[in-house]
Amino acid sequence: MSMLRAEIEALEQNGITGVALTRLGDPKVIPLWFGEGDLVTPEFIRAAAKQALDEGYTFYSNPRGRPELRAAIVAYLARLYGVEVDVERVTVPGSSMLAITMAAQMCLSSGDHGLIVTPHWPNIDRAFQVTGASFGTVRQRWSASGWTLSLDDLRAAARPNTRALFVNSPCNPTGWVMSRDEQRELLAFCRERGIVIIADEVYHRMVYHGGECAPSFLQVATDDDPLIVVNGFSKAFAMTGWRLGWMVTPRRYATQMAVLAECFNTGAPSFVQRAGVAALEQGEDLVHALREQYRAGRDTVMEILGGHPRIELAAPAGAFYAFPRVPGLRSSREFALGVLAEEDVGLAPGYTFGPGSDEHFRLCFAQSPERLREALTRIVRYLDRHGAEFGA
Ligand SMILES: Cc1ncc(COP(=O)(O)O)c(C=O)c1O
Repeated sequence: MSMLRAEIEALEQNGITGVALTRLGDPKVIPLWFGEGDLVTPEFIRAAAKQALDEGYTFYSNPRGRPELRAAIVAYLARLYGVEVDVERVTVPGSSMLAITMAAQMCLSSGDHGLIVTPHWPNIDRAFQVTGASFGTVRQRWSASGWTLSLDDLRAAARPNTRALFVNSPCNPTGWVMSRDEQRELLAFCRERGIVIIADEVYHRMVYHGGECAPSFLQVATDDDPLIVVNGFSKAFAMTGWRLGWMVTPRRYATQMAVLAECFNTGAPSFVQRAGVAALEQGEDLVHALREQYRAGRDTVMEILGGHPRIELAAPAGAFYAFPRVPGLRSSREFALGVLAEEDVGLAPGYTFGPGSDEHFRLCFAQSPERLREALTRIVRYLDRHGAEFGA
């Protein structure tokens, strides 16, 4: 008999790790499989962490986050979105991934149903799965002008026992960005049905059509709404290894958030939180520079892959991924393993991003220009060599 709960026993590695583990750390590989660039976190953030260590920020602190960081998050949200968020709504448990796991635990359990807008990052499945709830997906639709979400599809997928809906905008992997009107409409539906929206906004600074950020649910919701917003430092400030993120929940749950934060991690590391303050207060130039690098990366992807006869791809509106479709592709896993073996380029296979995505692959274009161009050229070479086998 297994010592594990059935939901844990059933866990499987996601498809990105499944491919990447075979060559992780191999210097010959150009890695486009994970969601991070090749830029080391900038000096002013590293300096803040070093200084914090030297000043003795090595102790436990408030499990919901250090007061100066929570205040800096409130100020950041006010500056960016023009909203006043009560500091009692903000928790900094550790990474955004941890915040998503906590959010799923907060509103789902056995007998409940969850919904995930797909294509989606595979860790979300796992976070939902371990709650014991069942869950389904609602798929974004693709057209030559980009990805969209049909709210009618979503309404049709909701069941009487649906308790939570995960939506990630800007989206990993499609780059879809939800509009403010769509957010309003979705929120009205979820309010009426008592469904909690878990809004993952970690790519909020990566939008390519003007503006400083993508629309946030915080701009259309009130404190009473069934909403948990997750955000973090990894993507906007090149801080993936620091494991720092935050969540905004209704104020009435401040006590439960304090207890939960204590159970899960008893707060993020103190000196890392000090670096977070520096990122929020001094990071705008960095955010802009990163966005321009990603915009150039996106243009390079469209230049090299966008016009390829075997590829369907619309320019992503946000985030830093392309999710091309290769019509007729029989196995995205075989494809990713083939590109890795023959061309030393690391890709994520589409199937791992949910049902209906096995003709896709995902690449992260947050790479330096030369490496990205080289990687894309190799992918095209592979496609041209093997394309006929795909039956497209
Ligand atoms: C959609 C999405 N949400 C959350 C995360 C996790 O971010 P963090 O590094 O803060 O845990 C990622 C990381 O790739 C992501 O793609």
